[in-house]
Formats: sequence, structure tokens, C-alpha cells
Amino acid sequence: MKSVFITGGTTGIGMELAKIYIHMGWKVGVCGREKTKFLENFATDQDKVSFYQVDVSNRDQLKAAVHEFSHSIGLDLMIANAGIGYKYKTKIPDFEYSYKMVNINLLGVMYAFEAALDHMIPRSKGQLVAMSSIAGYNGLPGASAYSATKAAVTKYCESLTLDLRPFGIYVTTICPGFVDTPLTKQNSHPMPFIMPADRAAQKMVKAITKKKMIFATPFLMATAVRLISMLPRTWYRFIMTIKIFNYSKD
Ligand SMILES: NC(=O)c1ccc[n+]([C@@H]2O[C@H](COP(=O)([O-])OP(=O)(O)OC[C@H]3O[C@@H](n4cnc5c(N)ncnc54)[C@H](OP(=O)(O)O)[C@@H]3O)[C@@H](O)[C@H]2O)c1
Repeated sequence: MKSVFITGGTTGIGMELAKIYIHMGWKVGVCGREKTKFLENFATDQDKVSFYQVDVSNRDQLKAAVHEFSHSIGLDLMIANAGIGYKYKTKIPDFEYSYKMVNINLLGVMYAFEAALDHMIPRSKGQLVAMSSIAGYNGLPGASAYSATKAAVTKYCESLTLDLRPFGIYVTTICPGFVDTPLTKQNSHPMPFIMPADRAAQKMVKAITKKKMIFATPFLMATAVRLISMLPRTWYRFIMTIKIFNYSKD
């Protein structure tokens, strides 16, 4: 039986991914900081999933949880999904929150991969998945640290796909557009092409199963941001002065 560990698997995208893998008959481990979220959202599946109360920005805590899961159950797939969104809507960054975001969104992915590779490298097989974002293609207004962490995660994984392939390890980067989760509930700005979390998770599982190197969804939004990322940056700066894009306040 196959096994997957999902960081931030207690709500939103991670929870939907966990439910799909449970349905597929996999052994599933999830982690999060608050046990109440797990108890609420897995009320009927608690016997099918192992929960670890872990903060992914704590390297030792995460390593201990992943090692416990992989030693007792196995580890075919690691999905480093835990992340926090941008909450400041002003043009002056909230630096404390930005550092927290780097610790969770970027270092949390590295710590998850490090712990998973302890199990996967000796076996010469496994798959690492990181939840990046299309927000990493361009620096978005009011989301400097968020865009930076997601751009870093995408490039980090791009390198790892090359480095780890000789060891039998596949790496997949997922770049969603807007997905309807507790994270996006806090947004007051327009969220074009927003997807239900269960639908988004189904598409992600297909891409993970195909061992895609990178999967950006939905297609139209992903294509638009990719094209925009190729524009000269002065054009980009001009486009982003248009009111509908520039939602952050002074
Ligand atoms: N929703 C979107 O539109 C969207 C778009 C692109 C990318 N993403 C990315 O998708 C991922 C999941 O987002 P979501 O929308 O599903 O958010 P969500 O509903 O807020 O879920 C986030 C999950 O991560 C956990 N988490 C947060 N910080 C953590 C920490 N320090 N240690 C351990 N667990 C932590 C949360 O549980 P606790 O709070 O209990 O720890 C929760 O289980 C994130 O990386 C996000 O950046 C989301």
C-alpha cells in the first residue's frame, strides 16, 4: 500500500488532497499546528489518517514527525503544501509577517523535503511535491514576500528535478491560481477563475500521478501570468498601475 505525507493537510487544498488519497486507499499522514482543524475536518476518517501536530517552520519537529511516519508506514510521496497567505494590504511591507512567511512557505518546504529524502534516497524512489503558486511568476502588489517565497519554491524545485532524477526521485511543482479555501476567504480583492478546492485537488492528483515537473492551473490564468512574466518589466509596471490589478492601499 502506498503512503503520502501532506504538510498543512488539515484544511483547504491539503485536506482535499488527503481525502482523495484516503479514497484511493493510500496510507495518509497530515500535519498542522492546530489539532482542532484536523478533528473537525476528518471527523469520519480519523482512523484512516495519522495526524502530527507540527509547525513546519520548526525543522526538528517536522523531521521527527516525517521520520515517525516513514519508519512505521513508509513514504512514497511527500506533499509540502503548508503555507500562509499575504495579509497586509498596504504598500509598506509588514516585515515580521514577511519573515514568518519565508520560514513557513520556503523553509517549511525545504525541511519537509530534507526529512523525506532521508527515507527516499536510500530506497532510490519517491516523489516530492511542492505547493507553489502562480503568484510566483510575477511580483504581485501587496504580496512581496508571498510572491518571493513562491518564486523561490518554484526555482528550488526546478533545480531539484535535475539533481534528484539520477536517484530515482521525481519532483513536481504545483502552481495554483485562486482556490476557494480558508486562506482566500480573507481576500477582499477580485479573484478571477477561482476554483473549488476539491476540483483543484483532483486536477493536482492527476498531475502528481503523471509525475509532471510543473503543473499550473487553471490553464487560462496560468497562460496569462506566464505571458505577462515575459513582458519587459517597464510594461509590467505600467500594466500593474491599472486600478483592477493594483488593489493594495497606500
Ligand atoms: N488558496 C489559494 O488560492 C492558493 C493559491 C496558490 C497557492 N496556494 C498555496 O496552497 C497551500 C495551501 O493553501 P490553502 O489555500 O489550502 O490554505 P489553508 O486553507 O489556510 O490551509 C493551510 C494549511 O497549512 C497549515 N499550516 C499553515 N501554517 C503552518 C505551519 N507553520 N506549520 C504547519 N502547518 C501549517 C494549516 O493548518 P494550521 O493553521 O493548523 O497550521 C492548514 O492545514 C499554501 O502553500 C498556499 O500558499 C493557495
